[in-house]
Amino acid sequence: MPEPPTTADDDATADDETTAAGIATWNPFQGNRLGLEGLPGVASARIEGRTVAVEFSDGARRAFHHQWLRHSCCCRQCGDPANGIRFCTVVSFDADIAPSGVTARGGDLIATWPDGHVSTYGGDWLLRHAYGPEDRRRRFSWRPVLWKAGLSGGFPTAPWADAAGGGAGLLGLYRRLRDYGIVRVTGAGTDPGGTERLAALIGPVHETTVYGRIYDVQAEPVAKLGAKTGMAQAPHIDDAFYYSPPGIDVFHCLASAGEGGMSTYVDGFAVAESIAAEDPDAYRRLTTTPIGHIRRHPGEIDLRSRGPLISLDEQGRPAGIRYFDRALAPLDADFDAVEGLYDAIRQFNRRMVSAEFTASVPVAAGEGMLIDNHRVMHGRTAFDPAAGRRIRLCHVPRDEFHGRLRELARALDPATFDLHLPQGSATAGPAQ
Ligand SMILES: [Fe+2]
Ligand SMILES: [Zn+2]
Repeated sequence: MPEPPTTADDDATADDETTAAGIATWNPFQGNRLGLEGLPGVASARIEGRTVAVEFSDGARRAFHHQWLRHSCCCRQCGDPANGIRFCTVVSFDADIAPSGVTARGGDLIATWPDGHVSTYGGDWLLRHAYGPEDRRRRFSWRPVLWKAGLSGGFPTAPWADAAGGGAGLLGLYRRLRDYGIVRVTGAGTDPGGTERLAALIGPVHETTVYGRIYDVQAEPVAKLGAKTGMAQAPHIDDAFYYSPPGIDVFHCLASAGEGGMSTYVDGFAVAESIAAEDPDAYRRLTTTPIGHIRRHPGEIDLRSRGPLISLDEQGRPAGIRYFDRALAPLDADFDAVEGLYDAIRQFNRRMVSAEFTASVPVAAGEGMLIDNHRVMHGRTAFDPAAGRRIRLCHVPRDEFHGRLRELARALDPATFDLHLPQGSATAGPAQ
């Protein structure tokens, strides 16, 4: 193993952050431990072929490949992938590496390697990173709460005062946004600065050419976008023409429209499930055939993306929706697939505009709405452009939100912080 350039000191001070020792002040050494309470320790360990068989104090058994254990060592010499200060990589050892000895001590697994290097793995770290079928089932166990029109009667809501205090109140908001793909924030105030305060609950604002940093959705006499009129808008994914469309939509209502101007929401994952059950052929096309989206502002920008309408994760479950009816590009698909693809898109679009799938809620001044733009489509009914409706809008990347959610859950709900979450809509992959 190469030696690290300097050795981390326990007494490093905050003002020498240019050294490995200083960095360790901000990234305290944890080694292969999570520090979780209540998990069983390692009771015994023995070498079995190319693996180490471990029995935990509650009787659970897991096996770990020698390579996996050597690669996963997070001691001071090997470093920590979590902070990127890492000296052990897959080329640091050979494929046939095997420990010269393994033992259980004080609830830890101790592995000694042929070069004398010693690795220590806490029971909690080992069990939460184990990769047996039951462990992988647990990490893939998160499921969205699918909803239809009935959501209007019990809309996921979090008061601003609770969420702004952080801790359990903020985690409550995060969980609703994760599980429903949408959460209403009440009591957010009507001053324009409240928009960025809402966004700051989940992450930094993402600036785009189309929306800028903050976008004022207000009826204007000469509108550049449909949003700036009083026209009804069918539910849609914002900016599906970006390779990675905006992640979380942050809507902030400063003034409502009075009559009309209802907000409409559709759960794209619920629509996907319905198509999978009722029209498997359409579902296959929507999950495998890329469609194009386009947005052009002449002389300024020509945005184009290609990707399936429904992206699936590695387990075959919906991970993201990419569909903006008004920005759908002329189809560019195999000649013989064009008509079948139209049929499939129509299956999605019909459900998307149906009363069955549409949750309608009035939008009130002082309310915020956080929406997972890779799952939930939003729209509105028509309103009188003279009524003074004013909404401010900005976007926060989804990974910033999920990243904060994991870190907060690690402290307050450690059973869930490492569950895999949908990574959103993908771009086109290899032809199917
Ligand atoms: Fe929109
Ligand atoms: Zn090590």
